[in-house]
Parts: sequence; C-alpha cells; structure tokens
Amino acid sequence: MTHSLRIPDLPIPVRPGALRPGGVGPGHAGDPAVNDVDVIRVRGDARLAGTVHVVGAKNSALKLMAAALLAPGRSVITNVPRITDIAIMGEVLRRLGCGIRFDADDPVDPMVAHGGVARSRSVVIDVPEQPGTEADYDLVRRLRASICVLGPLLARLGYVRVAHPGGDAIGSRGLDMHISGLTRMGAEISGEHGFVIASAPHGLHGAEIMLDFPSVGATENLVMAAVLARGASVIDNAAREPEIVDICTMLNQMGARISGAGTSTLHIAGVPGLRPVRHATVGDRIVAGTWAFGAAMTRGDVTVTGVEPGFLEVALDKLVSAGGLVETRGDAFRVRMDDRPKAVDVVTLPYPGFATDLLPMAIGLAAVSDGASLITENIFDGRFMFANEMMRLGADIKTDGHHAVVRGRERLSGAPVRATDIRAGAGLIIAGLCAEGVTEVSHVHHVDRGYPDFAADLRALGVEVEPGTAPEEPDLTI
Ligand code: EPU
Repeated sequence: MTHSLRIPDLPIPVRPGALRPGGVGPGHAGDPAVNDVDVIRVRGDARLAGTVHVVGAKNSALKLMAAALLAPGRSVITNVPRITDIAIMGEVLRRLGCGIRFDADDPVDPMVAHGGVARSRSVVIDVPEQPGTEADYDLVRRLRASICVLGPLLARLGYVRVAHPGGDAIGSRGLDMHISGLTRMGAEISGEHGFVIASAPHGLHGAEIMLDFPSVGATENLVMAAVLARGASVIDNAAREPEIVDICTMLNQMGARISGAGTSTLHIAGVPGLRPVRHATVGDRIVAGTWAFGAAMTRGDVTVTGVEPGFLEVALDKLVSAGGLVETRGDAFRVRMDDRPKAVDVVTLPYPGFATDLLPMAIGLAAVSDGASLITENIFDGRFMFANEMMRLGADIKTDGHHAVVRGRERLSGAPVRATDIRAGAGLIIAGLCAEGVTEVSHVHHVDRGYPDFAADLRALGVEVEPGTAPEEPDLTI
C-alpha cells in the first residue's frame, strides 16, 4: 500500500508532488492530487553546491491571509509559498465565505527561469461583508495556525468559534496567552466540545497586555484584534520575529495604527475599519537557514537568495564558529564549509535568538561535527522527539529534559527514518546527505507542508534524489 497525501474535500489544488522525485513538472501544475508516494530517498556522501532561491515565509503568509479577514473586499498577497499549509488556510477562509484564488505570482519565482516550477503564488482573497464565524476541527487539526482567525473574526464580528488545535509532535502548545489577552480586551471566552468560543457583543476595547512569554501566535492574534478595538492597546513582551513585522506592515497599509513592530512593545491605536491591500510576503528565514546548515553539514557551497541575511544573524554566526565562511549581500548570503565542522553549542530562543525551527538542523550539524555540542531547546517541550530518528542514522545523541548532548561522528549511516514534523523531516533528509548509503525518509508530507519544492531544490544543488515507495503494510486485522 502506498501512503496518499490527498487532503479530502479540499477543492483547491495544493502543491503537486513537491517531494515526489520527478513529480514536479509542468504537467503536474494545478493537479489536485498531491503525492502518491510518501517517501523520499537520498544518496549520502553528497555535497550541496549552487544557488537556491527562497520564496515567502509560510509562517508569515498564513497570518497575512488571516489578516485579510479584517477588511471586506479584495486583498492580494504575493510571494506566498506553494505548500500544503497554505492550501489548507485557503480552505479555512473559503469555508468562512471568502473567495480564494491562487494565481501565478508577480514577480515570478526566479527558479522558473532555470526550468523549475514556480514555488510561489499570489493569493487573491475576496472577503465578504459578513464572513462566517466558525473554523471546524477537520481543518484546524491539519493546520494549527488556523487559530489565527480567532483575533480578526472576533474583532470584526464580535463572535467566533474555532476548534481547539490540541498539541502536536513538537509539544503541548498552549493557548492561554491568546485567551487571557483577548479577555483583557473585553472578550468572554469559553471552551466547549473542543471549541474555543469567544464573544464580544459590544466590541473589543483597548487594553494593556503583558505576555508571559513572547509568543508568536498570541502576539499575532492580539494585534489583529487590537487594530479594530476601541481605544489604545499596548502589548508588552511581544514577539519580535520578522513575520510579526511583516503582518504589522500589512495591517498598517490597511489603515491600522501600529508602532513598535520588531521591538518588545507594540502600541496600537484602534481604528473603526480597515481597507483591503496588496502585500508581498517576507522571505522564509527558516527555509533559508535549512540550506545554510545543509551547506555546512555537507561541506558544500550554497548561495541563498530571497531572504534578508540579518534575519539569520545568530544562526549564520554559529556556522562561522563551526568553521564556515559566510558572505552576505543584499537579500542573499553564501555559506561555504571546506573542512569538517567544529562542534558548537546552540540555545534556541525567541527571535532574535536561534530559531527553534532550525533545531533539527543544529542537531544534524552537531551529529557530524568534530567534538561534542550541547543543544538546548527553550520553546517546545517535544522538539527532541525526532532525535530518536536521527539516532537511527547513527547520530550519538543523549537528551535530558530540554538539553541534548551530541557527540559528532565523521559520518552517519543511511537508514529508513520517519519525518515527525516539518522541520524534523527536512533535518533528517539533510542528515541523510551526510550518511553512508541511502537514507529513506517516510511521512515526507510533513516536509511538503513547509518547503515548496524540497526535492527540486536538492536536485538543483547536486543531490541524487530517488523515487521511494512506502513498504507494504501487513494486514493486521484480527
Ligand atoms: N505558548 C503557551 N501559551 C500560549 C501560546 C504559546 O504556553 O498562549 C507556548 C507554546 O506552547 C510554545 C511556546 O509558547 O511552547 C511558543 O509558542 P508560540 O506561540 O511562540 O509559537 P506558535 O505561534 O504556536 C510559531 C510558528 C512555529 C514556530 C514558533 C516559534 C507558525 C504557524 N508557527 O508557532 O513554526 O516554531 O512560532 O517561533 O507561525 C514550523 O513552522 O514548523 C513551526 C512549528
């Protein structure tokens, strides 16, 4: 039996066959089928070399699409990555009554000029005067980020029901800061039958909110609520990620009055209404960072374009400490590693600290470095779950709570492994490049959720990517 990546009931085309080797040709564009093979095979002893262009950030585009709900009329978001998560968010908005169309991007992804399929799209969102008020579990369980419709719908309509997303493979993922912040703005919030139900029949009012932790999702939901609240709001200890700056920029273009984006304190003066907008998504620093670590791990030479290198300052600095050469220019950077990397310690922190989404790449680098690295994860309590898969590749990892000690090996050993989440999947594939023999990563639909064309990018960087078939499942009925 092969695993299917079809998402039933999604009428829009999602990224076709992104990780299926050979599945990314013009003939597949627009094909509503996703992958029919959920496995990718890479040959080890590889070296990444060449140029790769990175399109817009998943974690920005998803929220920009939700932010469009704040203004009736047509908004257009460009440089949106062609990935499964975006397709699901499109469906969330469609079920809320929006018209959604994915168009060719403008400007076109530069990889197209080199014979590739466009990895970005423009999304045209027609928002009705009265959108729906419910995001159901069917979609929220597939896309945790659906929770970001909570703030904008509550602000616009005074009522919303969003399925509680629950935890996932990287941790428990609470919502308490979203809820307490909205409550301070006058919302009444309850939980029933797996739904978060929020109402503010007389509208939201401005509030001073101090977050316990600079949560990305809570900051976004609260900003999207505060822009239409009566009066002024202050969000302290706010997240400072480039994706937060991106959404604040878009909201200000829509007529919002937000200052302080990119700092820990956001000041928001509520306005009575917003207008639709056209906005380009900021480049994906996590995809860019994945290639940067891939270059270092494989002793390669990779130029990454499409992302401001300053967004990766701490990560690139780690690669320099590991012995890499890093050059930056405009919205591009180059990472070259000539010798075996030296072990470096890494601590994940909210931006501008080392991104938790690059933790699997940091572990992969440590696994092949000369010496021992101490890797500390401070954001998600389950992020080390994937370390067991990395150990199947021969990595020497010992975890204790939120620390991992990784003793580097000259070389890993190819094996079948399983992707448990987007970043773990990408990290395992890259680690497979440093292994002897073939590494087969299954459940790669996780990677399709966040990387528009991982297999094609690997091939463009000189890697042999082979078709893989999921093993037959035995019949276990009794
Ligand atoms: N948290 C709470 N209560 C809250 C909110 C968060 O306890 O009310 C905790 C979470 O459980 C977690 C930590 O705070 O332990 C950080 O959560 P945060 O809200 O900052 O993360 P998020 O908004 O859920 C986004 C990205 C993640 C990325 C994190 C951290 C999206 C869709 N997701 O998640 O990206 O790791 O910020 O930077 O934007 C990924 O792309 O693979 C991914 C997981």
